[in-house]
Amino acid sequence: MAFKIGLLGLGTVGSGVAKILLDRQGRHPLLGEMEITRVGVRSPDKPRDVDLPQNIFTTDLEAIATDPAIDIVVELIGGTDRAYKLIMQAINHGKHVVTANKAVIARYGAEIFTAAKEKGVYVMIEAAVCGGIPVIQALKQALGANRIKSVMGIVNGTTNYILTRMHREGGDFEPILAEAQKLGYAEADPTADVDGLDAADKMAILASLAFGDRIKLEDIYCEGIRQITSTDIAFADEMGYVIKLLGIAQHTETARETALDIRVHPVMVPTSHALASIHGVTNAVRIEGEPIGELVLSGPGAGSGATASAVVADIINVVATLRANPSNINLTMGCTHQHYAKVQS
Ligand code: NDP
Ligand code: HSE
Repeated sequence: MAFKIGLLGLGTVGSGVAKILLDRQGRHPLLGEMEITRVGVRSPDKPRDVDLPQNIFTTDLEAIATDPAIDIVVELIGGTDRAYKLIMQAINHGKHVVTANKAVIARYGAEIFTAAKEKGVYVMIEAAVCGGIPVIQALKQALGANRIKSVMGIVNGTTNYILTRMHREGGDFEPILAEAQKLGYAEADPTADVDGLDAADKMAILASLAFGDRIKLEDIYCEGIRQITSTDIAFADEMGYVIKLLGIAQHTETARETALDIRVHPVMVPTSHALASIHGVTNAVRIEGEPIGELVLSGPGAGSGATASAVVADIINVVATLRANPSNINLTMGCTHQHYAKVQS
């Protein structure tokens, strides 16, 4: 029996996912047990570079989220309120959900994971933070033995692409942002990238995982790169620094209290520092934990293929778990949910 997948969105990321699922040769064997049966988009007649039958396209996304024949809903439309409603509908109809939507998870993660726990379904979010880098899996599983002390790094590909190009070529950010949009790195509303909001969403998710707290976005100091000019870049170069937009989440300690400090803002990074050499759309996250010490994960942080890689990995994880526990399929599935979704639970 193939697992039926309903794709909500066939844009930059959705089309990357469909391409992987349609070209299985040499990839994970479980891809052979998945089938895209419905696709929800805004404009079903738009020409697309993905070979899917026209009759599976619809504009009725709710029909996909509630379709009894669908096992896994993959939400890739972006935005917050509509996406949140669709995710909740899918969960309430007993479907597993995979999403790349950090804006929704940062705002509604608690509600989503609570509903998923009640329904006994999985909600998977690897692609929501740092594109192709398996940083969610690292914090949830591979580093599970550690007390995390800090998580910091470059978590937005668009702004790192812009700053890298400004350092190399001079000039202001607007024309470079237009290129980042063409390359599929930027959000539908690139204000989220430029003003640091996308990075703040990602830091809220990472900090929730790392520190086991529910992080509210309003508690994150956030400043983007809009005000950085070519003159700032030239001065930084002259002094031996590069300007990077960093997300930082760390415990701070005074004699009286410990607190969680989470921020996103531009930082002058010395050229000798490891993060100074993270260029273009590449992201990098440095995690400090006890007992492991420090480690850095880096890789492509945005774009169709890199993000689709993380989305498909999540689908494979769901299918592998269901295959290993066949009695868990559909609503009868037990609450192994914590294993996947420590975020804000
Ligand atoms: P795109 O804008 O490229 O694609 C969005 C898709 O959703 C399109 O297929 C669009 O339909 C469809 N869609 C959007 N709104 C509606 C609606 N109201 N009704 C029906 N269909 C709708 O977005 P991306 O693929 O870039 O991003 C998708 C998600 O992935 C976002 O949450 C984003 O934050 C996240 N993400 C993106 C990354 C990237 O590098 N781009 C990286 C990591 C996460 P149509 O095609 O007809 O217009
Ligand atoms: N717009 C986001 C970025 C996409 O540039 O990092 C990846 O989350």
